Amino acid sequence: MKQIIVTGSRGQIGTELVTELCSRYGPEKVIATDLGTHTDFKCEFVELDVTDRTSVFNIFSRVSPGTVFHLAGVLSARGEEQPETAFNVNLNGTKNVLDAAISSGTERFIFPSTIAVFGPHTPKKNVAVDTITRPVTMYGITKLFCEQLAEYYSRKGMIDARGIRLPGIISHRTPPGGGTTDYAIDMIRSAVARRKYTCFLKKDTRLPMMYMPDAVNALVKISEVGSSSLLHRTDFNVSAFDFTPGELETELLRHFPGFEVTYRQDARQAIADSWPASVDSSCAEHEWGFAPQFDMQRMVSDMILNLRPLVKEGRSAQT
Ligand SMILES: NC(=O)c1ccc[n+]([C@@H]2O[C@H](COP(=O)([O-])OP(=O)(O)OC[C@H]3O[C@@H](n4cnc5c(N)ncnc54)[C@H](O)[C@@H]3O)[C@@H](O)[C@H]2O)c1
Repeated sequence: MKQIIVTGSRGQIGTELVTELCSRYGPEKVIATDLGTHTDFKCEFVELDVTDRTSVFNIFSRVSPGTVFHLAGVLSARGEEQPETAFNVNLNGTKNVLDAAISSGTERFIFPSTIAVFGPHTPKKNVAVDTITRPVTMYGITKLFCEQLAEYYSRKGMIDARGIRLPGIISHRTPPGGGTTDYAIDMIRSAVARRKYTCFLKKDTRLPMMYMPDAVNALVKISEVGSSSLLHRTDFNVSAFDFTPGELETELLRHFPGFEVTYRQDARQAIADSWPASVDSSCAEHEWGFAPQFDMQRMVSDMILNLRPLVKEGRSAQT
């Protein structure tokens, strides 16, 4: 088996994906890359800015990986604050990684896209894969372009590209990096730390979500499945459940009676309002066996179980 390169490996998803890849294939098979230097990974780590085309080409030609998981990105809320950076990292960075992967003979390019590719003209509920995609954020625009660019190279037979449109990902290990669904993690952390929480979305804003173990499994699974079963390529919708901040508050009150949430929306409300409330994952289920294990209640219980020791140690909770 050839080696695997992961970009953006120090982020919320990357830290957990790298751990899973190391235990599945062995640390010697994984090369984690990102900005910065420090990691706790068992595998080799290489500092890599994906906007630096020469460095991207250097590492791909040195390693000749079989697969790249391209996670480096600037997410929705940060992307609206810094649209130039989002454009550069998400678009130029992805083009660099795709070009370097193709030139080094990399077989598979695995890409987490996002529900941000949808926009206000998309139907709201149970949204199909093939529907209106007219995003209104820099994040959504760049991710949609990259879905289509990767699919273009795939159709030309230059690389086998696969992508899943992740919903809001909830996890306890690494703080999220500036997305619109981060409120869910912040609310759970606040409840566990017995703090009040001020939510930046309205109480009735419904969004699709998924727990980290299911997101990591989905990325690994789509990277392993044979090509013959895939009718879609880079645009699979995947989601495990959907809820509103009000529903999450109610669920947390079952565990922490007296937990207090106030609602004060900010600029992220407009981003959330442009996204669907729920998506239809049936193409992913039929074509490569997507099958999430966690529903909302199980996710909340597991988050609490994992966050409690951190709070006790005083390492709680600020994301
Ligand atoms: N977390 C979610 O809810 C979610 C939902 C949908 C899609 N995604 C996608 O999954 C991927 C990973 O998301 P995440 O939640 O781990 O994000 P994150 O913000 O936690 O991590 C992103 C990583 O990219 C790195 N990065 C930024 N600029 C870079 C550059 N120029 N060169 C190299 N690395 C750079 C950051 O250092 C960071 O470690 C992203 O592409 C994102 O679009 C995430």
